[in-house]
Amino acid sequence: MIAKEKASESMNYLVLVNRLNPLPEHWEDGLETVRVSNSVGDEVEVERKTYAAYLLLRYDLEENDGIRLELDSGRRSVAVQQEIMDRFTEKYGADYAAKTVAVPGYSEHHTGLALDLYYRLDGKDIYTNEEMARYPGIWEKIHAKLAAYGFILRYPDNKEHITGYGYEPWHVRYIDSAEIAGKIMSRPGMTLEVYLGAVNDADPVIGCGPSALYSEEELKEAAVQIKCKFASFPGCELHALRYAGDPCCGAESLQRINSLDPGRGFIQAAKFLSDFTGGEGTEAGRAYADYPWWLGRTANGGWQLISWGQ
Ligand code: DAL
Ligand code: ZN
Repeated sequence: MIAKEKASESMNYLVLVNRLNPLPEHWEDGLETVRVSNSVGDEVEVERKTYAAYLLLRYDLEENDGIRLELDSGRRSVAVQQEIMDRFTEKYGADYAAKTVAVPGYSEHHTGLALDLYYRLDGKDIYTNEEMARYPGIWEKIHAKLAAYGFILRYPDNKEHITGYGYEPWHVRYIDSAEIAGKIMSRPGMTLEVYLGAVNDADPVIGCGPSALYSEEELKEAAVQIKCKFASFPGCELHALRYAGDPCCGAESLQRINSLDPGRGFIQAAKFLSDFTGGEGTEAGRAYADYPWWLGRTANGGWQLISWGQ
């Protein structure tokens, strides 16, 4: 094991790295890591405190549940993330790769705080995604113990519209606080994004209005969808985004969005309004006001952006 001699006092263990937030500049300056070998002989690099917490989690699971955890992946450089992206693109196609692999520079794995786990069962390594999916009960036991050691499940099921990724039972994230991890893990489907108020707090862009149909959290989740889409409008600058209000989201609107995207069976509709300055793909420099966005909500609570601009 090799420890890099670096100051770790400045580490922000609650750092948010996702599709919208790249690895902060100079992150490495505060980073202290260890390099360890896993059961198949690969070297994995992990942030120092994250590794110490992982060892405690591992001991607990092995002693009390007979589950032997292993590390598949820890810290990745931007170059390694690119290799993974290339490999996935070649094997599964660009669409699937874009859905499941973070764009290099935007992967939480760059931080050293994210771990992809696998485990040994009856002396056998269980590490392909297909094999791991066969033992949901084992993941349940692992997930139940994460918070006590300062870890959270980073990509819960059905939260793709917030985290940007589908369910990854193996991807856990160290946040250095059992208390905060407990708050996140004790609420099913809670995400780091929502906990941090990343779509609202200190962000003048989002101002969700009052609603009897939707909770503030549900509106924030919908707003994230819009922000993600808006991020793909180059040169445009978003100034305000607000819920259009319950009267705009009744039966007529629901019928409209179901006719725009038939077969999805939306059970609720929501309309948002935005003000922004135009860039590429819109009229550059124009001040757009009350520009509409329509979303549908499926029975499992997931939001889907259906149309915008009309
Ligand atoms: N699979 C996760 C999202 C990553 O590539 O960082
Ligand atoms: Zn991962």
